Amino acid sequence: TTVEWEAESYDMGGHDTYMHKEIAEQPDAVDRVLRGRIDERFATVRLGGLNLDARAARAVRRVKILGCGSAYHAGLIGAQLIEELARIPADAEPASEFRYRNAVVDPDTLYIATSQSGETYDTLAAVQELKRKGAMVLGVVNVVGSAIARETDGGVYVHAGPEVCVVSTKCFTNTAVAFALLALHLGRIRDLSVADGRRIIEGLKKLPEQISEILREEDRIAKLAAEVADAKSMMFVGRVRGFPVAKEASLKLKEVSYIHAEAYPASELKHGPLALIEPAVPTVAIIPTDELLEKNRATLEEIKARSGRIVAVAHEEQEKADDTIVVPRNEPELDPVLMGIPLQLLAYHTALALGRDIDKPRNLAKSVTVE
Ligand code: G6P
Repeated sequence: TTVEWEAESYDMGGHDTYMHKEIAEQPDAVDRVLRGRIDERFATVRLGGLNLDARAARAVRRVKILGCGSAYHAGLIGAQLIEELARIPADAEPASEFRYRNAVVDPDTLYIATSQSGETYDTLAAVQELKRKGAMVLGVVNVVGSAIARETDGGVYVHAGPEVCVVSTKCFTNTAVAFALLALHLGRIRDLSVADGRRIIEGLKKLPEQISEILREEDRIAKLAAEVADAKSMMFVGRVRGFPVAKEASLKLKEVSYIHAEAYPASELKHGPLALIEPAVPTVAIIPTDELLEKNRATLEEIKARSGRIVAVAHEEQEKADDTIVVPRNEPELDPVLMGIPLQLLAYHTALALGRDIDKPRNLAKSVTVE
């Protein structure tokens, strides 16, 4: 499938920044990545460009996802989805680390390079090194016909449309959804039941409307942003599905607002970072209502006991938090897609309150095509 990028998508469309425009475009962008791919009859998805037949998909023993920046974070979500839905051991690693550590290239591993631009030098170099060693490499890429799309054996296009702001928003979300599609596809070739396949499909179809619902909370999120804009530093914490969301939200805040931020698995707080917690260091906690809810609530108590301010992103009001951004419920596997959205707005409004150059943060480039 090809997607037309209308000329008007390059103008601001009434928004003051591309970042704001691209955040607002997410319901449509997610609709595009799903369009034409859902196969209701077999409770799976069709991925025309994957180039991986059922026998090859069954032979995969491990998945390794490579990318940089936000693409790497989307890859962390992708690895969890592949483990959860397809029960294949999977992990993600920064492409640059991978290429410099003389990694063991395993013939039973499926390598996946992910990139918005498809031109990031470190990711491309990792792909070329893998191909040279005979590995099977797929791409999860936004820009059609880009270098990484061309050099991989097949893959899934992300169909986010052009992303102009240096910091990634809609492409990050669409990449996570593209990985959900790939995970569902691999799962249904392996052991994911028809019922679970249907459950995920129903969840995917709800995403665009649920993203719109979150975007309608913008005014409230802007107020919260004004309150944290004078923070010395910020902590982002989450467990398992919440952790890649915390990492991406922390990167987003750093990039656009220049406020120092750290992301930690909530369970690691007690092994060091709790020492940083004080009123000038607010915490954003990702707390889905899932099997880890009680553990996460205990984390909030630990933070409160050190008089830290807490903003929770959750499915229900969190008593221990100073503020809760409530997001709609979906299937638990898809929580990372939705829980990242309000934190894009939080980063955006914090940067706006601080008068930053939102679309072109200092020292950064949209795509890094050099070493
Ligand atoms: C740069 C950008 C990041 C981006 C990363 C990877 O560092 O500033 O926002 O996530 O490159 O870019 P890619 O095009 O490979 O997704």
